[in-house]
Amino acid sequence: MDTQTATSPSASARGVQDQPGALLTALEDAQRADEHNYLSEDTLRAVALEMDQPLSRVYSVATFYSFFNLKPQGKHTIVVCRGTACHTRGSLGLLREAAARLGMPEFREDEEPSFTTDDRLFTVRTVACFGQCALAPVVSVDGTIYSRMTQGKLCSILDSMRKGATK
Ligand code: FES
Repeated sequence: MDTQTATSPSASARGVQDQPGALLTALEDAQRADEHNYLSEDTLRAVALEMDQPLSRVYSVATFYSFFNLKPQGKHTIVVCRGTACHTRGSLGLLREAAARLGMPEFREDEEPSFTTDDRLFTVRTVACFGQCALAPVVSVDGTIYSRMTQGKLCSILDSMRKGATK
């Protein structure tokens, strides 16, 4: 009897699992399938089992790439650029305004990389640079880039999204 096939996936299945990117794809699929767009501990365990990988490896990949979320995410994602060009043009004020407007005035970017509102409507995070410094300050709202953002413009975007959610 072939003990290799009795205790682990077949050679062809293992071949697929060992391909570069297979684990990333499995994690992406799992996150996309989650209602709150994140990878729970149970999900990480299930992916490790499915991919026949140690949980520690799966966890280290999930924590290395910033597009994987280990906490439940809001329906809308606001990303405030905190690079030098955006900082000098007021991005800290934008971040503070968003946090205050969304009921998280105690948020400190040096303590947490992001926050999600209790109603799970918004997640606000920062990025080091969008690569569009000439348009600073830059904010992304659900993937759409807004250049030369102002606190007033950001507040009206947040307010209209909130109104849209309560309709
Ligand atoms: S610093 Fe904000 S886009 Fe580069």
